[in-house]
Amino acid sequence: MNAADHFAKQGWQVRLFDNLSRAGSDQNLVWIGAQHPSSVDFRGGDVRDSDVVTEAVRGVDAVLHLAAQVAVTTSLADPLGDFAINLTGTLHVLEAVRRGAPEATVVFASTNKVYGELEDLDRAVTEDQPLDFRTPYGCSKGAADQYVHDYGRSFGLRTVVLRQSCIYGRHQNGSEDQGWVAHFVHSILAGRPLTIYGDGHQVRDLLDARDLCRLYELAVEPGGPAAGQVFNVGGGPSNARDLLQVIAAIEDASGRKAEYEFAEVRPGDQRRYVSDLASVTSALNWRPEIDVDAGLADMIAWARSVVVT
Ligand SMILES: NC(=O)c1ccc[n+]([C@@H]2O[C@H](COP(=O)([O-])OP(=O)(O)OC[C@H]3O[C@@H](n4cnc5c(N)ncnc54)[C@H](O)[C@@H]3O)[C@@H](O)[C@H]2O)c1
Repeated sequence: MNAADHFAKQGWQVRLFDNLSRAGSDQNLVWIGAQHPSSVDFRGGDVRDSDVVTEAVRGVDAVLHLAAQVAVTTSLADPLGDFAINLTGTLHVLEAVRRGAPEATVVFASTNKVYGELEDLDRAVTEDQPLDFRTPYGCSKGAADQYVHDYGRSFGLRTVVLRQSCIYGRHQNGSEDQGWVAHFVHSILAGRPLTIYGDGHQVRDLLDARDLCRLYELAVEPGGPAAGQVFNVGGGPSNARDLLQVIAAIEDASGRKAEYEFAEVRPGDQRRYVSDLASVTSALNWRPEIDVDAGLADMIAWARSVVVT
């Protein structure tokens, strides 16, 4: 929704394709419809259905492929379902572009999970870090990442793979399974207790969705330098925080006290992941502009204005 809003504000006609399976996405749809009644065209549909994907993609100038089964936990409970959405769904998108919009740039929201657990790695991660898919989600997103990149080589599509670290911001619907910053914000504001899996010192570099949307825009620029590239994308070292630091920042910005308990670390949870942004900065002259404290304050202001179920 943030990307649809961003592109509509830049004057694009946006075709939004989603099956609204994510809890809260229906509320986001009402919001985006009110913001952009004539420039956002919603097509309800599922990426597992190749015919509707083909129809949705036909004739477009750019595709942001963000639809996914997004939770590691769900992928462990239902690997086949995860595969169907994340890998078969991605192939449907790629084939739809190849047949119906071959000049379009395809941006794929990949993930830092393609690099595995990265035990003991204390430096920022560059794109030449060896791939190491773990968990069904890591495998399905990682394989999709490779297919998207290869459709550039095998079929000449203009593809861009963005290996995203932790993204947060307005309109994010978090749960214990995925979207942990949103889950923390909504829970702390509502006085709901949190469970922290592990010791709370897992580190992520946090990126505000508004910064990511600026990058999406640079990535789809016709004839731009992003085509064929793979970039690690996150908040970078200056926006790296551990979970307990994020909780403390939310407490400071909201004036609310968090309640939490600790539980066993979950499979596939990297101890530390921080993106090295040198490659994307040098290619696209992009770097994050919103620091974590400002981004969290903005997200809290939004979360206070909505009722989240
Ligand atoms: N948020 C992060 O920190 C993060 C990090 C790395 C990668 N990503 C990737 O970014 C993308 C967006 O993630 P997000 O965090 O905004 O999650 P999200 O759940 O808000 O977005 C995913 C959207 O896909 C839709 N969807 C799910 N299954 C679908 C299907 N079968 N057909 C059509 N639509 C379907 C959902 O309804 C939802 O609106 C995903 O591909 C995710 O893997 C996110």
